[in-house]
Amino acid sequence: MYNILLQSHAGSWAILVLLLVISYFAPNQKITPMIQRLFYLIMIITGVSMLVMIGFPLLYVFKGILAIVLIGFMEVVVGRRKRSESTKVYWIAVIVLLLIILSIGYDII
Ligand code: HEM
Repeated sequence: MYNILLQSHAGSWAILVLLLVISYFAPNQKITPMIQRLFYLIMIITGVSMLVMIGFPLLYVFKGILAIVLIGFMEVVVGRRKRSESTKVYWIAVIVLLLIILSIGYDII
């Protein structure tokens, strides 16, 4: 069971980033932002389930909180792009948070 959660978690984050890039470059369609939200749920549900199963280690609780903030910034990027507002600062936040989260996920830090 844990392995299924881990594989679906590890297999979904790249798709989520791809969906964000498509939503950014094609801001007038509603499909990819909707699928993006489905993948937010997949990341949160598989993440929290794994946290419960491994007893809430502090580093992964911290990673989970960072991930929720990341998801918030992803939504801001999509929303501001739709309104043709600047997204530069939020893209920087998304990239920095993603690098930290991936480094924790893949045991680099
Ligand atoms: C978009 C957000 C997220 C990204 C990009 C992400 C990324 C990753 C990656 C790359 C891994 C390692 C997978 C592997 O070892 O093959 C991982 C594992 C994990 N993530 Fe996430 N994650 C996200 C959200 C979350 C959330 C919201 C939580 C919890 C609330 C969470 C909790 C965990 C846990 C517990 C593990 C397993 C650690 C292990 O057994 O090694 N993740 N995550």
